[in-house]
Amino acid sequence: MDAREMKIKAAAAALDYVEDGMRLGIGTGSTAEEFVRLLAEKVASGFRIEGVPTSERTARLCLELGVPLKSLEELPELDLTIDGADEVDPKLRLIKGGGGALLREKIVACASQRMIVIADETKVVETLGAFKLPIEVNAFGLGATRIAIEKLAARLGLSGEIVVRASGDGPFMTDGGHLILDASFGRIPDADALARELNAIPGVVEHGLFIGIASLAIIAGPTGARVMT
Ligand code: 5RP
Repeated sequence: MDAREMKIKAAAAALDYVEDGMRLGIGTGSTAEEFVRLLAEKVASGFRIEGVPTSERTARLCLELGVPLKSLEELPELDLTIDGADEVDPKLRLIKGGGGALLREKIVACASQRMIVIADETKVVETLGAFKLPIEVNAFGLGATRIAIEKLAARLGLSGEIVVRASGDGPFMTDGGHLILDASFGRIPDADALARELNAIPGVVEHGLFIGIASLAIIAGPTGARVMT
């Protein structure tokens, strides 16, 4: 089974959790896009959902495939969010934001009664941090914010390069008009403390540590999909 087939397998298993009439948060990334494709087939066969997309990219795909969308303003309380992840640890703590949508992803997931993660086995880790941690920051005071993050990291025994994410000739801009710093901390022994303290830095808009948000993960491997709770 190749990587795409595993993503489809996880996405298909997640579809079993979606009920007719649900208000659904719809994630961002290649795995979430497989979910959107399968969801669109169900919608075409008469299944009714209302989706809230977590990015402009997901919104475009949903519109193209006929998945009905609402804004989070129209639907501020959701039943379920299905989204991918860059890393998942045994406590269902996540690193997200590889696709740069972490702020909307976190807002939508937290507005949902449940968040289900869909991923393949390569995303499962014992300790978070091999994937660079995306941190969404305000462009104003970028240098000061970066220094504050470096000082925090040093206090928590973390080190590593922190770079502004690039796109084409310039910096990557999020849907909210912010920048992303990718922090190569390596292993993060105390992700809870890092998450809490990053939130206390004024220039940090949001970070990619999702702690206590996911309620279940569907992990696809070469022999099928398993559920982590
Ligand atoms: C986007 C995300 C994605 O869910 C994450 O990067 C996983 O993407 P993919 O399914 O393409 O591996 O957090 O901000």
